[in-house]
Amino acid sequence: MELQAGETVLLIDSKGRHFLLKLDAGRTFRYHQGAIAHSDLIGMDGGSWVTSSSGGQMLLLRPRLADYILKMRRGAQIVYPKDLGPILIYADIGPGMTVLEAGTGSGAMTMALIRAVGPDGTVVSVEIRDDHASHARKAIERWFGSIPDNLSLITGDVAEQVETTKPDRIVLDLPDPSETLNAAAEHQPPGGGFFAYLPTVPQVEKLVKEARDSRRFAEIEVKEFMVRDWNVKGRSVRPEHQMIGHTGFLVFMRRIEAEPSEN
Ligand SMILES: C[S@@+](CC[C@H](N)C(=O)[O-])C[C@H]1O[C@@H](n2cnc3c(N)ncnc32)[C@H](O)[C@@H]1O
Repeated sequence: MELQAGETVLLIDSKGRHFLLKLDAGRTFRYHQGAIAHSDLIGMDGGSWVTSSSGGQMLLLRPRLADYILKMRRGAQIVYPKDLGPILIYADIGPGMTVLEAGTGSGAMTMALIRAVGPDGTVVSVEIRDDHASHARKAIERWFGSIPDNLSLITGDVAEQVETTKPDRIVLDLPDPSETLNAAAEHQPPGGGFFAYLPTVPQVEKLVKEARDSRRFAEIEVKEFMVRDWNVKGRSVRPEHQMIGHTGFLVFMRRIEAEPSEN
């Protein structure tokens, strides 16, 4: 399908540098090897080669969501693509589900959730800070073209949304998930999934203790994912010298009915 004005595209130069741009017929992209008018890109297909005014060759692609997330302007720290995939699988986010998410932050997690729940699912994403909420709204609009009908962006405290949302899944990336855990213990339907992304060990210890003490959560799993990219050039086939170090711990659990007391 031909690229349209208003679409976000990726240009990749001969050194592998990525540039994200929103196609606007009146604008020109400039880099160290010359210029390319956006109007020359509109109507081309993703996967084409483009030549700049100084003869530089660039590859034109529709970005993957992972490309977009890594290059988009950020307000809050994002969940990196290396963690987004495992979160979707282990938190078991699937078509048709209702997911309550917070904080919206920069919107990276929100966009991955919207794709995973599909058109029959719903994502309610809550952000306590106005500036982050409006930043995320713009990033999500830019990716999808408009705010998807099945996404509610709410400014406020996520703990207050559990009772009304009754989510199948809760997905949290915020410093203190305790209040939301309490609200989930009370109002999330049993059998549902609760997930928190936490950067430090004390946060993980605290959340796991609170979950166990409440006796309303089971199947608690804590995971960490490390990804090594590889360099494959001629006979040099080896891991890259640099990798993303620590990001966060992934804490998964299931909401259950209170355990029966022992006789
Ligand atoms: C690390 S960012 C989230 C990034 C987001 N997951 C992403 O991938 O772009 C954490 C966000 O949680 C928000 N936050 C903190 N406490 C909150 C609460 N109780 N309810 C809603 N949002 C909250 C913060 O304002 C911040 O924007």
